[in-house]
Amino acid sequence: MDTQVGQMEEISVTKEKITAPKLKFFLETYGCQMNIADSELVTAILLNQGYEPAPAPADADLILTNTCAIRENAEERVRSRLREFRKIKLHKPDIVVGVLGCMAERLKEKLLVEEDCVDIVVGPDAYRTLPFCINEVNEGRKGVNVQLSREETYSDINPVRLGGNGVTAYISIMRGCDNMCSFCVVPFTRGRERSREPESIIREARQLSDKGYREVTLLGQNVNSYRYGDTGFANLLGMVASINPLLRVRFSTSNPQDMTDDVLYTIKKFDNICKYVHLPVQSGNDRILQLMNRSYNRQYYMERIKAIRKILPGCGISTDIITGFCSETEIEHKDTISLMHEAEFDFAYMFKYSERPGTLAARKFKDDVPEEDKSRRLSEIIQTQQDISYSSNLKDLNRVYEVLVEGNSRKSSRYLSGRSSMNKVIVFPAGEHKPGDYVKVLVTKCTPATLLGEPVN
Ligand code: SAH
Ligand code: F3S
Repeated sequence: MDTQVGQMEEISVTKEKITAPKLKFFLETYGCQMNIADSELVTAILLNQGYEPAPAPADADLILTNTCAIRENAEERVRSRLREFRKIKLHKPDIVVGVLGCMAERLKEKLLVEEDCVDIVVGPDAYRTLPFCINEVNEGRKGVNVQLSREETYSDINPVRLGGNGVTAYISIMRGCDNMCSFCVVPFTRGRERSREPESIIREARQLSDKGYREVTLLGQNVNSYRYGDTGFANLLGMVASINPLLRVRFSTSNPQDMTDDVLYTIKKFDNICKYVHLPVQSGNDRILQLMNRSYNRQYYMERIKAIRKILPGCGISTDIITGFCSETEIEHKDTISLMHEAEFDFAYMFKYSERPGTLAARKFKDDVPEEDKSRRLSEIIQTQQDISYSSNLKDLNRVYEVLVEGNSRKSSRYLSGRSSMNKVIVFPAGEHKPGDYVKVLVTKCTPATLLGEPVN
């Protein structure tokens, strides 16, 4: 960065009216939707400091990576990316490299030792101090802030959505998690649960709607336990849905114990609240659920699924499943498969258990399911879900769904892609339609992952 300053001085003496080149940042994001939302906050902070975005890491003065620590392979991916940044830095030693997010929070100063290209380590609650940390590096020190907070919600910072599609946006409504599921690192990396004041959420949603956005997803690790004063999650959902009937509202992630009927009735009441619930189950076996410190059992979970199906017929439902958790037997694994059949999820995110240092499970239980069993169980549940997803998609054939167009389909610009209210991806010939349009589409074909159709009038 010193050369950059030198160059600026040179320019100002040789030419009268040339403005100094702006410093450039490159920010990439790993992990969950919350990290994407956090990167939009970080972008706002950096733009406010006068930085401008760089197209690639090698063009940047500042490379930041917003990281995930949820499973070991998420961290490995970041480390291999850091090795690439290290190579860039060998040629451009003034580049500043920073690690943000959950991996920064988990590893703290250790990251500086383990990855020698890293100059900055900033955790999820300390993004406001990023300019200060950058300054520390400019003055020859490392910039580290991994302080967690009980209050920070960044409610006054307007996120800048550079990488977005201009149609759908995330709004973070709460931070942290107090649930302490025994396998999960999030309570350690994102700190205590706190909700953001409703006024600032409504303001952000209204601004997005005024700018032409057509869908907002309210985000939290545990979104339906949102509470700020007298405002609970169902109230908040109703308030956001009332802004504009053309603005779709989604939310993620719900926890089974907080998925109350009043939330379901609010979803029913508003046409623009999407008929889709993501409800992580993790396991279909009560002993495992207890070891996981999930606060429900199979019967309670299935009652919630039945309540969703009864109050919201046709609602899309998805889940998260962990396979091969500590001491899980073959029979207990089969319980998960039988629950999948019973619940008939439209889709699922499925993971092999990955022990995270410092979690309750890592301290109390042995990660004793052999790797080959974990892998086989994972392929069994993936296969099970593929079959269930495919039959769910077959049921959509010859039906008409309203699709909010998000962009071109991945394979061809002659096709558009969007989602139904139930969160299924639907692809259809573009015709005159464009991103942001609501299009009624007749489903004519399907794969286990996608619906294909034709627009109808
Ligand atoms: N409430 C959160 C859950 C975060 S983690 C949310 O907003 O989505 C997402 C999923 O990752 C969890 O539901 C769980 O299925 C999985 N997961 C979490 N910790 C894990 C671990 N140690 N190993 C494997 N999968 C894990
Ligand atoms: Fe993790 Fe459980 Fe919270 S999965 S994010 S501790 S709800």
